[in-house]
Amino acid sequence: MMTIRALTAEDRDDWQSLWAAYLEFYESEVADDVTASTFARITDPAGDIRGAIARDGDGRAVGIVHWFSHPATWSKTHYTYLEDLFVDPSARGGGVGRELIGHVTDAARASGSSKVYWLTAETNATARALYDRVAARSGFIHYEIDLG
Ligand SMILES: CC(C)(COP(=O)(O)OP(=O)(O)OC[C@H]1O[C@@H](n2cnc3c(N)ncnc32)[C@H](O)[C@@H]1OP(=O)(O)O)[C@@H](O)C(=O)NCCC(=O)NCCS
Repeated sequence: MMTIRALTAEDRDDWQSLWAAYLEFYESEVADDVTASTFARITDPAGDIRGAIARDGDGRAVGIVHWFSHPATWSKTHYTYLEDLFVDPSARGGGVGRELIGHVTDAARASGSSKVYWLTAETNATARALYDRVAARSGFIHYEIDLG
């Protein structure tokens, strides 16, 4: 049976493999010190990023998700932003992605958040096949200014 648990320091090697595969999927690189900082922030109980890891019945790490909350002017509470979601290719199509989103939604609801949201590439048809089943499209277009 699959389990989803909060990431802890002991998950470092498994997380690192999935994180590296996720970055490869995006043909991106993140500096080693940023990766180290991100993992530390996730696993610090007082940290500002939360993360969870999914394991299959044999204990094999099959997916990760990261999220955090931020204030919102249109709410008396806060919104939750799901930043990263990745499922190992060998485990896809079996509901792990859906469960990881559900895990974030449960955590966000428990913390009093009034919304969970995320972005994806318009061209990411696989992810959108899942997202169209579990969430509503906002209709907003994403802009950004890169400050280096
Ligand atoms: C997107 C991703 C997280 C989905 O994970 P997953 O574990 O395969 O998703 P699930 O098995 O929970 O899929 C849930 C639903 O989406 C559908 N779905 C998943 N992959 C699909 C595909 N390739 N084609 C069509 N439908 C698909 C499933 O049929 C399922 O629907 P159902 O439960 O009603 O049958 C995974 O493909 C992934 O890690 N992709 C690479 C990284 C990425 O794109 N991350 C998201 C960035 S925003």
